[in-house]
Formats: sequence, C-alpha cells, structure tokens
Amino acid sequence: MGLTYDLIVHNIGQLILPRSSENPLKGKEMQDLAVSEDAALGVVNGRVAWLGSSSDSASFKALERIDAKGRVVSPGLVDPHTHLVFGGSREHELSLKQAGVPYLEILAKGGGILSTVSATKNASEEELFEKASFHLERMISYGVTTLEAKSGYGLDADTELKQLGVIQRLKEKYPVSIISTFLGAHAVPPAFKGKEDKFLEEMSLLFNEVKESGLAEYVDIFCETGVFTVDQSREFLQKAKEMGFGVKIHADEIDPLGGAELAVSLGAASADHLVAASDEGIKKLAEGNTVAVLLPGTTFYLGKDHYARARKMIEEGAAVALATDFNPGSCVTENLQMIMSLAALKLKMSAEEIWNAVTINAAHAIGKASEAGTLKIGRAADFVIWDVPNYKYIPYHYGVNHAQSVFRSGKLIWERMAYSGVQLSSAR
Ligand code: NIG
Ligand code: FE
Repeated sequence: MGLTYDLIVHNIGQLILPRSSENPLKGKEMQDLAVSEDAALGVVNGRVAWLGSSSDSASFKALERIDAKGRVVSPGLVDPHTHLVFGGSREHELSLKQAGVPYLEILAKGGGILSTVSATKNASEEELFEKASFHLERMISYGVTTLEAKSGYGLDADTELKQLGVIQRLKEKYPVSIISTFLGAHAVPPAFKGKEDKFLEEMSLLFNEVKESGLAEYVDIFCETGVFTVDQSREFLQKAKEMGFGVKIHADEIDPLGGAELAVSLGAASADHLVAASDEGIKKLAEGNTVAVLLPGTTFYLGKDHYARARKMIEEGAAVALATDFNPGSCVTENLQMIMSLAALKLKMSAEEIWNAVTINAAHAIGKASEAGTLKIGRAADFVIWDVPNYKYIPYHYGVNHAQSVFRSGKLIWERMAYSGVQLSSAR
C-alpha cells in the first residue's frame, strides 16, 4: 500500500531551509542557511511529511504533483512588524517631506500619526476591515504567510478595541497566521500633552480586557523624544508583562534614548527600528535573545542617510530580523521583498542573513518560531515557489514581485496571473 501524499512539489532548484532552534540565529549563525538542490517536498494533512531529493519523490504516490520547474522554494515569509489596520492615507505629507519637515515635527503639529488617528476614529469597523483586507491580500501576494499587526491609531479605548477587533476578524477570515499587538501607546493625543503618565495609565486600564478577550499577544510602545520616555516605557511594559503579555518596543528610531537596553532588560521579544541604537545598546542586544527587528523601508521612506547598523549588530552577535513596518506614514509598502533588497543595499546584509531575517528570526520576533519560519517534518506546509533562478536573485532584482505561488498548510492561497495573451485586432 504505502503512503499517499496529498501533494508533492518536485523539481525544486533550491529549497531554502533555515535552521530553527529555541533561540534566534545570532551573529555569525545568521550566515548559515541550508539550501538543498534538486529537492522535493511532500505534504500530508497540511503538514510537511517528507523532504528529500526530487528523484526519490518520483515513485511516491500523490493526489497532486506540482513541478517547480527548477525554481526556488522557501518557507512562507514572516513579516514581524506591520501597522496593518488604519483609516485614510497621508499622501499630502509627501510635499512636507520633500520640503524637509522632520517626521517628529509633522507629528508635533498634529499631523503624522495623529492625522491617521482621526481618520481611524472616523472610519467604521467595516471600512477598516475592507481596507486592511486589501493590504493583507497584497502582503500574501508577496509571499507572507505569517505576520504581526498592531493597533495604535486609536489612542482611546473604543478605537483601539475597534482596531484589535478588525485584526481578530482578519485572523478568522484569512488563511494566514496573524499575531496581534496592542500599541495604545503609539503617540500622545493632544488632550494629554504634558499628561503622558495619565495617558499611559488609561491605556494600561485596557490590558485586562484585551487579555481576557484574547485580542492581543503583545504590547508595544513608541519610546522616542517627544513621545514616551524610557522610564514611562519601562513602567508601561512592566505592567503589560505582569498581565501575561509579551512585549516589544519601537526603540531608538530617531534618538538614542536607550530603548534597545530597555528591551533586553525586560526580555522583550523584539526591539524594533534601532537606527540610532548606541554601541551599548547593540552590546546588550548581543547578550540577550531580544531580536533586533530592522525596518530599512522606513529609513528609506523618511529620506534618511543613516540606516540601522546591521553589520555591527551581527558582528557583535545580535539576532537580526527584517520587517516592512507597513503603515500610512513612514513606510507605505506591503512588499517584504523590497525590504530584502534594501537590506542588501543599505544594511549590507548577505543573502543568507537576509533569508534568515525574513523567516526564522522574524518568527522568533513574534514568538512563532516553533510553527513558522522554516520547513520541517510535522510543521505546517507554508511555502512559496519563487520564479527566480536562485535565492540570491530576490534581493538583487528589486521592487517587483517574484512570488509565483503561495501555499498555506499545503493549499494554494495565491498565484500570479499570466499575461492574458489577448490579441487586439485594432491595437492602434
Ligand atoms: O513604526 N515610529 C512610529 N510608528 C510608526 C509610524 C506610524 C506612522 O507614521 O503612521 C513606525 O514607523
Ligand atoms: Fe512601526
């Protein structure tokens, strides 16, 4: 009799298999990337049931067989930092950016995050859901099967819960894995200017409800000049930890306040941005297991010359992951492949480091490393067939979508459409 596979994908030119363990890949380990050539994979009940050579798979019984035609197959990508749910858009800010108005100044004048807060308050839950669905479908089309999504454009109880409710509905509707983060401490609403402690206290009153209703796994805060201080962030996140949340920090994005050090001391899953992280902050990251989630798309979009010091972080021994930071103000793209190119060009990361940073280390940054970020027997068969000749090609050929087909639990969830081939008789 023998086993019948639900699906065999054969003739895989390169199968990318990031190494998974209890801890994220740190420092030099990020250079290790197992790549099997002429490979195949077998799926049973949505899980990886076999990995081996393409020729060995030829005799297997399978309900369906896909010829990968020598293309690259990787685990589904993991995007560990997105602001997926928001109202409105901010194209009007582009001219301010061109005129050189700094990001924090736009925010201080009530624009930036605060303008998205108004639009999010004014949008119905249905509108937010429709809009977020559109962005999420685009993320999936770029090969993402696991992602994190934050609230943070409410800054009041009702709107924060509305955003988290939308994330919950997205989790129910879409066949991808979504980790939800409560970012009620994303900015200071004008009514609370000078009363930041009071505002944080109000936001922390939501912890109980958010926890009880399972609306978020993590709590995050924007620790930055003019937003929340290191001390305020520590106190807020400490409370969140006591309530059983994992914690994350928007840390040292613009000024080196010590957000990286704080993240490590709290045992945060990740410290994100880190463009301005100090030598001491980087040293601390190397000592702990907090993942440095770098967001080069944001640095690019804000028009900055200096990017996060990824090379130093890796040389010192830190664990680095990459994310889009998709949001309507500082990084307006769902394309994690574009971020892979920026990581190569601006962060000087190697192709192997980049692949680990968008798979296994990204999964560690959101507590999903035992389920996502690699392909192993028994794990969900979340994978992407890439229409590229080898794994180094994706960071190299930038700004376009290389995904051919995206699978979640062994099922095709997105496929690239072919050119229609329609002949127009009166073409001119
Ligand atoms: O991660 N830095 C703070 N928060 C977001 C930007 C949000 C926005 O501008 O709407 C970020 O870049
Ligand atoms: Fe962010």
